[in-house]
Amino acid sequence: MLPSLAGSRPGTGQVPGPARLSAKASTFTESVIRDMTRLAVAHDAVNLAQGFPDFSCPVELKDAAKAAIDADVNQYAITWGAPAFRAAIAAKVAGAYPGWTVDPDTEICVTCGATEAMIATMLGLVDPGEEVIFFEPFYENYGPDAILSGATPRLVKLRAPDWSFDEAELRAAFTDRTRAIVINTPHNPTGKMFGRAELDLIAELCQRYDALVVTDEIYEHIQYLGPGGHIPPATVPGLEDRTVTVNALSKTYAVTGWRVGWTIAPAALTEGIRKTHDFLTVGAAAPLQAAGIAAMGLPAAYYAELAESYQARRDLLCAALADVGFGVSRPDGAYYVMCDTRALDPAGDDVAFARHLVADIGVACVPGSSFFADPADGRHIIRFAFPKREATLLEAAARLRTLS
Ligand SMILES: Cc1ncc(COP(=O)(O)O)c(C=O)c1O
Repeated sequence: MLPSLAGSRPGTGQVPGPARLSAKASTFTESVIRDMTRLAVAHDAVNLAQGFPDFSCPVELKDAAKAAIDADVNQYAITWGAPAFRAAIAAKVAGAYPGWTVDPDTEICVTCGATEAMIATMLGLVDPGEEVIFFEPFYENYGPDAILSGATPRLVKLRAPDWSFDEAELRAAFTDRTRAIVINTPHNPTGKMFGRAELDLIAELCQRYDALVVTDEIYEHIQYLGPGGHIPPATVPGLEDRTVTVNALSKTYAVTGWRVGWTIAPAALTEGIRKTHDFLTVGAAAPLQAAGIAAMGLPAAYYAELAESYQARRDLLCAALADVGFGVSRPDGAYYVMCDTRALDPAGDDVAFARHLVADIGVACVPGSSFFADPADGRHIIRFAFPKREATLLEAAARLRTLS
């Protein structure tokens, strides 16, 4: 029996009558992460649950968004993205990764965030019953994405402490029904960065089974391995013509509420994504796409400073969590830290412990079970997010110190 990827809490199930949900919607729950944010607000807690910044976005983006609204950029953009924004995305990719050439006319689809990019990709390219491989722990959206597209998930475990996977387990996960493997690098929640050898193995298997890679690179510039640390799968030999790259303005430019993302994929795949996207949302906000052009034009120094400032936040929070007694898994990328709670919560009830933290200590985090198909695998884990001002992280640290 293949695992369900529906998340840690059972859905409400189907009830008869007009209040009946679809069979698909009955199998998953509302997001635990966004639920924790609601609890954080209710308890006036420091929100280290959901991954959104509490600092400003670059002024260049604000100015460009305001100018676009003043210029009456108010109507639908072209469904798959304003041409100038698509050209800017292609130019930025070519600058960041020499040799990776993207045709903005045929290989990009602008979406409402990475979230829509992922579901449009799954619905546009995967048929019900086909298998999609996910690494576990996984970002919680991928479960409902798989269910909604009718895909059958196959899970491959990332193992602490280095979050590597077992080659034999990955090989065994590929079958004649495999349509795609989903990669997220840098990885939420573990901070893993997929390395060259791992991607070469994935390339070998995808070619053998004629499978796609769908890669979520929303944290591409938030990584601590230095220049060259992030390897986009689309640049790996053998994957160029079978990779869908998902990305967004959300994290790199601190605008998670703008809902602007995109896919990059060969023209034949982009056609399926564009059609699906058209009927899901028509398009992303037109004036914010104009601001996206300003984002793509930011200098290399912006990205260097971004990584440096996130590294300082990571180091501050990891040290504070270790002081309190958590077992800390220092991330190589993204802006989350997974903690082993055994010393502080021997009972191993991650949901109860997270609720205690938010209600009694005043810090919100995410229970580890949200990232596993079997909730038991996450019961000694919680995840903190650190896209926050230093003052916010220091306040969280001070509150957490009352735990020990
Ligand atoms: C791995 C990953 N992908 C996608 C998203 C959502 O991206 P967006 O806000 O652009 O839809 C998140 C947000 O936390 C994420 O962690």
